[in-house]
Amino acid sequence: MNVLLIGSGGREHALAESILGNPRVTKLYAAPGNGGLAACGECVPVAACDQAGMLALCREKQIGFAVVAPDDPLVGGMADALSAAGVPCFGPTRAAAALEGSKIFAKEFMARHGIPTARHAAFSDAASALAYLATAPVPVVVKADGCALGKGVTVCATREEAAAAVREAMEERKFGAAGARILLEECLEGPEVSVLAFTDGETVRPMVSSMDHKRAYDGDRGPNTGGMGAIAPNPFYTEAIARRAMDEIFLPTVRGMAEEGHPFRGCLYFGLMLTADGPKVIEYNCRFGDPETQVVLPLLESDLFDILLACAEGRLAQTPVRFSTDAAACVVLASGGYPGNVQKGFPISGLAEAARHAHVFHAGTKRLDDGTLVTSGGRVLGLTARAPTLPAALEKAYAAAECVSFEGMRFRRDIGEKALAALAEGSAK
Ligand code: AMP
Ligand code: GLY
Repeated sequence: MNVLLIGSGGREHALAESILGNPRVTKLYAAPGNGGLAACGECVPVAACDQAGMLALCREKQIGFAVVAPDDPLVGGMADALSAAGVPCFGPTRAAAALEGSKIFAKEFMARHGIPTARHAAFSDAASALAYLATAPVPVVVKADGCALGKGVTVCATREEAAAAVREAMEERKFGAAGARILLEECLEGPEVSVLAFTDGETVRPMVSSMDHKRAYDGDRGPNTGGMGAIAPNPFYTEAIARRAMDEIFLPTVRGMAEEGHPFRGCLYFGLMLTADGPKVIEYNCRFGDPETQVVLPLLESDLFDILLACAEGRLAQTPVRFSTDAAACVVLASGGYPGNVQKGFPISGLAEAARHAHVFHAGTKRLDDGTLVTSGGRVLGLTARAPTLPAALEKAYAAAECVSFEGMRFRRDIGEKALAALAEGSAK
């Protein structure tokens, strides 16, 4: 079967490698792909959100199944367009993707179904938001309603900072149309956990838990990014918490979407905060997380492609989804300036040496016609290692990071530290 994978990041590279593990997949096309995906199949320069272009590509290449990985095409209705054209696909419809596409929709949905989350107020003009802020408790979280590449959220310690964030989003339109409406949210405290879950609209199968590292700099300082590294499993996510999350969050979400006439089929990402009152939803994403996917999929022992098909066909209850008990760690190598403006086009060296220690997932890379691999984005590479323990996995991922270089390269040196501290505390008890 010819399979089309839509997207171009490290997540897509990890998906591609797992999909290729299934012998029924004869050829993989990636659109638009990247320098790493080019080694997994054929990259085709069709933009991820170009529905007409994707449909033409599906006809031309006789695509039997499509996997839509990024948020923008899903929120824009790519899965609907593919299905309408008779191309079976993995990924939620536009209506179901609204769980990520509109944070306000997600908040109202959670309120309708009693799903625990931070208290919030929604605004469509800056003046009302600023008036509300004058008496709002701090810290307060300012969020753009729409998709902003994981950068539309500002956690503000003071009202002044929050007012500036409101003005940036609503008046200066720093996040474009995504900031037309905003949310002001209660600031939750506790460890964060990412749980990706396969669902066919009815059955939900959580994957191994993980921990992203969203801030740009060590010690969780600096601006939010798409994610600077990840580890799995997340030691804060105990079995007792997992059971609560299943009963109070995962099942009510999947059932609620089905009841409202928009069953969610695909990968549903639960961004959770483990508060003193139990797990609460910080955000939903309608897709695999990145870099979480780069640590979760290497631990999947069942066949990914079979699971993707089962989600699309409503057969997940009968399909095995098993994970290894090993640990995995991913260190993201980013371009200088990320998450702000980055310079691109710098040659990358040391990948063969890095591959001796860890798996190299490509994110923002491009192979030039002369064969040189150059940087082409903010997050450039994800170096992922798997080992029986987290310290061993981290050691390998960092050994790989030391081998790579490109101009302006930057990475966090403290990926997994919070998890290691939690493990040390747990074993001391
Ligand atoms: P999001 O893009 O919604 O995941 O938000 C990015 C990051 O902002 C999250 O991973 C949290 O660290 C932080 N954040 C978002 N909402 C809240 C909240 N209500 N309370 C505390 N931190 C939050
Ligand atoms: N790592 C967070 C995300 O994929 O949105």
